[in-house]
Amino acid sequence: MSREQRVHTATLTTGHEPGSVRRARRRAAATVLARARQDGLQAAQERLAADRAESRDLQFLPRSGDHGPAALRTPIRFRVPKHQDTSAIWGAAYPFLAEGGLGADGVFVGRDLHSGSSFVYDPWVLYQRGLVTAPNMVVAGIVGAGKSALAKALYTRSLAFGRRVYIACDPKGEHTPIAEAVGGKAIALGPGMPARLNPLDEGHRPSGTDDATWHAQVTARRRTLVGALTETMLDRPLHPVEHTALDVALDTTVRTSDVPILPRVVHHLLAPERADDVDGRLAEDGRHVAHALRRLVRGDLAGLFDGPSTVRFDPSLPMLSLDLSRVAENNNALSVLMTCASAWLEAALADPDGGQRWVIYDEAWRLMAHPALLRRMDAHWRLARHYGIANMLVFHRMSDLDNVGDAGSAQRSLAASLLANAETRVIYRQEADQLGATAQTLGLTGTETTLLPTLGLGQGLWRIRNRSFLVQAQLHPDEARLFETGTRASGETQ
Ligand SMILES: Nc1ncnc2c1ncn2[C@@H]1O[C@H](COP(=O)(O)OP(=O)(O)O)[C@@H](O)[C@H]1O
Ligand SMILES: [Mg+2]
Repeated sequence: MSREQRVHTATLTTGHEPGSVRRARRRAAATVLARARQDGLQAAQERLAADRAESRDLQFLPRSGDHGPAALRTPIRFRVPKHQDTSAIWGAAYPFLAEGGLGADGVFVGRDLHSGSSFVYDPWVLYQRGLVTAPNMVVAGIVGAGKSALAKALYTRSLAFGRRVYIACDPKGEHTPIAEAVGGKAIALGPGMPARLNPLDEGHRPSGTDDATWHAQVTARRRTLVGALTETMLDRPLHPVEHTALDVALDTTVRTSDVPILPRVVHHLLAPERADDVDGRLAEDGRHVAHALRRLVRGDLAGLFDGPSTVRFDPSLPMLSLDLSRVAENNNALSVLMTCASAWLEAALADPDGGQRWVIYDEAWRLMAHPALLRRMDAHWRLARHYGIANMLVFHRMSDLDNVGDAGSAQRSLAASLLANAETRVIYRQEADQLGATAQTLGLTGTETTLLPTLGLGQGLWRIRNRSFLVQAQLHPDEARLFETGTRASGETQ
């Protein structure tokens, strides 16, 4: 028994205690109390320490962040001075920034593979916003890459925006079902087909044109067309005397008939009217021209362009397509057909009030070999802005443009000017041997160039002026069914 206990017991048992015992008891009680306090404090402290240890174990990161290689991983706020700069500067300072995109105005194309956002494109909107100086585009890529599908998606989706669509070149006839599906019309041209186009049609007369101007425009257009046709047939430029003979015959035809047609021109070339024949040699001068053009009237292309048009150009239709699939095997016939058809279409499109229109040249590499066509196309492209037209040229490789004419020739520079006038260039998958030429023509970076052979179906590198996007075009199942070309593409040759 301890001393305190003994004292305590004594107190309880005696009932009366002396002063010394009482003092001793008080001292003992104070000591007990102090010890208990001490014990409680220690327990509390131990509990606190245990809590701390436990919460330390639960924490993922030390409060002030890790040290060494893991530094900067900290749950506390990371304070750096604020810095503001232009995206041009940041592009260099932090090269992993994705493009902001072209905004949401326009036609949905698909997904921007860099930023993951949707990619929207509209040549007219970009032109209005000053992002491009001309609303033309070229699409290049190997067979089966999805170029035509892209064209189809772009133009069918823009119908909802009130745009109209003209397919100026469709050697595979693959746009015909789409024209029919959207309530438009496809004109199938070829031997034995009922459709006939008169390339000498006056065309649509824009409102506000006075008689003299209109007459001069029509005359100039007819002269250019017949000249181009003849050059294509002769496969050489016209001589000055041939120009004169053709001019005179065209003049006589227009003067003497209500609806001028090609057979009359051939007739007047072979048998010029006496009054026009100043030196008596006009018939001789125009002989080659007459025989070249005769092929359109009597030869293998008879029945296509040698009478009044049986098809009227209806500007209210949402879509019009010239289906050239029936003459696609014959390259020469195709070029003649294209020349006539594009003249007819141009005359109809030359209306500044005609609204915004797409003009699509699919499989355009077939046209590029023909200088006369290239010239027409170039003239047409220059006028695109004025008439509200966006042209789209679809071909296989950039070198298709380089194979036009000889180096330094007028044709080569025409092809270069076509490309220069198209500030939207979409590159689909390219063969490895084409990479150098493509990269050089378009000024691609090394990364962009190595990307090209790896692109999948519907994936393309879009270069819009100096900006660049990697886009996956997306099709709705109904669109995919309508745009299907799988069976045809497998039999295609270049
Ligand atoms: N983005 C896409 N998604 C799904 N199918 C596509 C896509 N692009 C093209 N296709 C399909 O691939 C096939 C070949 O496409 P196409 O546009 O005819 O190729 P190209 O004109 O480049 O030769 C078509 O049947 C088309 O429907
Ligand atoms: Mg195609």
